[in-house]
Amino acid sequence: MAAMLLTKKLEQKGLSVTALISVIITLIVVLYVFGVSEALMAAMSPGAPSEAENACWGRSKCREAEKKHDGKHGELPESFSSSSFHPTECDIHPDNRFDCAPEKLVSQEECQARGCCYSPVSCKRPTVAQPWCFFPPSYPSYKMVNLTTTETGYTARLTRDRPTFMPDDIMNLQLDVVFETESRVHFMLKDPANKRYEVPLETPQTTNKASSMLYSVQFSDDPFGLVILRNSSKRVLLNTTVAPLFFADQFLQISTSVPSPFISGLGEHLTSLILDVNWTKVTLWNRDILPVPSANLYGSHPFYLALEEGGLAHGVFLLNSNAMDVILQPSPALTWRTTGGILDFFVFLGPDPKSVVRQYMDVIGYPFMPPYWALGFHLCRWGYTSTAVTREVVKNMTAAHFPLDVQWNDLDYADAKRDFTFNQDGFSDMPQMVNDFHRQGRRYVMIVDPGISSSSPSGSYKPYDEGLKRGVFILNATGQPLIGKVWPGPTAFPDFTNPETQRWWQDMVKDFHDQVPFDGMWIDMNEPSNFVEGSLEDCPPNKLENPPYVPGVLGGSLKSRTLCASSKQYLSSHYNLHNLYGLTEAIASHDALVKVRGKRPFVISRSTFASHGRYAGHWTGDVLSNWEHLYYTIPAVLLFNFYGVPLVGADVCGFVGNTSEELCVRWTQLGAFYPFMRNHNDHKNMPQEPYVFSPKAQQAMRSALFLRYLLLPYLYTLFHKAHSAGETVARPLYLEFPEDPNTWKVDRQFMWGSGLLITPVLEAGKTEVSGYFPPGTWYNPLTGSTIHSKGQWILLPASLDTINAHVRAGCILPLQEPAFTTTESRKNGMILVVALTEDGVARGDLFWDDGEGLLTFEKGDYTQIAFLAGNGVLVNEIVRLNSQVDGLQLTDVMVFGILSPPHEVLANGVPVSDFSYRTDTKILNIPVALLMGEPFVISWS
Ligand code: NOJ
Repeated sequence: MAAMLLTKKLEQKGLSVTALISVIITLIVVLYVFGVSEALMAAMSPGAPSEAENACWGRSKCREAEKKHDGKHGELPESFSSSSFHPTECDIHPDNRFDCAPEKLVSQEECQARGCCYSPVSCKRPTVAQPWCFFPPSYPSYKMVNLTTTETGYTARLTRDRPTFMPDDIMNLQLDVVFETESRVHFMLKDPANKRYEVPLETPQTTNKASSMLYSVQFSDDPFGLVILRNSSKRVLLNTTVAPLFFADQFLQISTSVPSPFISGLGEHLTSLILDVNWTKVTLWNRDILPVPSANLYGSHPFYLALEEGGLAHGVFLLNSNAMDVILQPSPALTWRTTGGILDFFVFLGPDPKSVVRQYMDVIGYPFMPPYWALGFHLCRWGYTSTAVTREVVKNMTAAHFPLDVQWNDLDYADAKRDFTFNQDGFSDMPQMVNDFHRQGRRYVMIVDPGISSSSPSGSYKPYDEGLKRGVFILNATGQPLIGKVWPGPTAFPDFTNPETQRWWQDMVKDFHDQVPFDGMWIDMNEPSNFVEGSLEDCPPNKLENPPYVPGVLGGSLKSRTLCASSKQYLSSHYNLHNLYGLTEAIASHDALVKVRGKRPFVISRSTFASHGRYAGHWTGDVLSNWEHLYYTIPAVLLFNFYGVPLVGADVCGFVGNTSEELCVRWTQLGAFYPFMRNHNDHKNMPQEPYVFSPKAQQAMRSALFLRYLLLPYLYTLFHKAHSAGETVARPLYLEFPEDPNTWKVDRQFMWGSGLLITPVLEAGKTEVSGYFPPGTWYNPLTGSTIHSKGQWILLPASLDTINAHVRAGCILPLQEPAFTTTESRKNGMILVVALTEDGVARGDLFWDDGEGLLTFEKGDYTQIAFLAGNGVLVNEIVRLNSQVDGLQLTDVMVFGILSPPHEVLANGVPVSDFSYRTDTKILNIPVALLMGEPFVISWS
């Protein structure tokens, strides 16, 4: 049995960890990110409290300092006076307060001039904390008038009679509430008089109100508020009456209570699976930065899932692409604060977390089906400086007996780092190299950045010359292409919202593909990243560059490391479209690959937005080679599965900084369970290809890679379920066991589908790992050991060569004998792992097609087989058959949980003489030679 054989090969290696180096790297990174200069500037900015005010004395001194500070400010405006609300209204517990001064620090006088309550909590004023200046319950908000029922729900007008402290309030609003399905309610607030920017995402249209619903909606007229309840429990899931609504041109804010502090989502951030509701501000504004806590990172997904008591769950999606903050506070409550667009909310009622995720994907779209080869092992690094070096890497992998499906090149291949060129020194035979890889059954992917070099002599660089002619670039205030700076030097940025740009991109992809027959595109730097602030000429001083409220973006302004917010795109301003840049490039690249290759496209992108998974996958960017980041990759992968981007993984062994042998082994073992697995390394670091390590480490990595290859049919089937039914591939335990609250915070383990639980080692120097096992039986197919859990933490052996992956009783996993590429492995014998429950039942399935054809599921060009076991019999049920399965053989069946040795085993009525049974492990191994595409009955008694 392949799985058993694999374990025998594993050897132990225990090198000490370079923990100190990791700490130093982290420190350097923190300094780099938060820059000493930024810290100084913040301290010197006019609104900042003085050092004395920040020092923490006793509370009374603190108040004195506040008074002094307040004295510097002006008179109360007439519209408000401190008597405009009753003082007892201000008696609000600090955790329940909603900030009345989100955009700046205010004095007591300024605060009260806003009609708000002022009461310092502590002497320090961190950016997010219990507010000192907060809304009283009577703070003026919108009033609801004319609530009327419609065919699909409700509509109403909201009006306010006094402006807020933010400029350009929209005094009249339209509210639409649509009961879209039994479990989905959609509500929108917009300006009925002027069309505002809306995210160009097509969402399902509803013409008839759902007939029965899991929810009810209630309204408060004055001040306006909306409450959504779960009918079964009467639990309030969303209540916007907790704070006033703001809808100004560049400041839209709505707060809600949340029924539990167990909230996941709101990516992309370096975070645990469950967010901290103790005054956390998460900022969404796509940004090129290596993952650091609290920073806005590469992508934006304004969606959260909240767990409720009893294992129920609901989700909320704000379809808005403007720069925004989401504030979580302990009451628990949540405030959405965005800088434009409209308020367009979808609420998903589940009632279980798995359904919530699917209901979210019903709105943003189900993930694309990746080619089979995309699930193999990928190898990359920045610094494969020539085809000779790249070929050598592939040769070394082969010589060291590692599987490798896809070889990549970073910027090194391109001529002067310009897209759609290859350098004639080191890469003159790039086309031949790619053809050679193809002959070996491998695929090839190279990097493509969106920035198009604008400084080559006219007539010498087609992508720019033609792009200019065809008007494809983002324009600055004077109507010229905005020029920033990225790797090739000065660059223009294609505007992928323009249909002409999509055609031009396709032409460029085709031109290059005609020369170099690559198989997929790695789209990087597409936040978009810019090495200068805004543009080479900076940005004009206007309201888009300087909105009245700047979310907590790194660098303090919207243009930081990207384009001017006020630059112009075909659909709208970059201010509105910035967060969609990576998504729109992914769509253009996906479509170009379909047209140019005529096969299933493979695109991996750094920047993402809601709906990205329909077109492309994601890798988690420039992770550090340390143990902390190793852990963080798990919640990252799980959350991207929630966001409908199941093809996701992190750079195995880490990208920034040197890895260590132990870390790289553990990372490879974890990475074998990333839905997308690529080892990638920065050019400054020590090499980290599997073959550079000691024989023992190599052996451990080899086992991990072969284990992945063994599991590929199961993984591919999970991707099919994601694509066809909105499921996740990698998922947290709570998706499978929501009623067990012990699972809710588990994010150092995870599952593949519902059948496999992975418990990786995430710390240095460990030979044991503790994992939570939900109630039931769990089988380790590598060791044959069995866990009967009552729902408990269990300490597992975990020497360096050990991978803890447990199959859940009740599941049947389809596997296949591994090989060095998927081209080869797809022809090998298949294996069924049958994990019986105590009652002796199990089920599973297989999706199989040609692995790279377009829309095979949609065209019905695939095979689907269900497997069922019970009462000592295993049968398959052919749900759908196509010729791709011809010749595919079932060679082994491994049945776990057979309590006593069978006397007889039959396959299609014929006795199997060479079956084997182990009394210690209770595993029955049945060698067979059956065709997967034909019905079979295997029995044991
Ligand atoms: C940044 C990417 O995140 C990294 O993976 C890549 O190696 C460099 N750009 C160079 O292209």
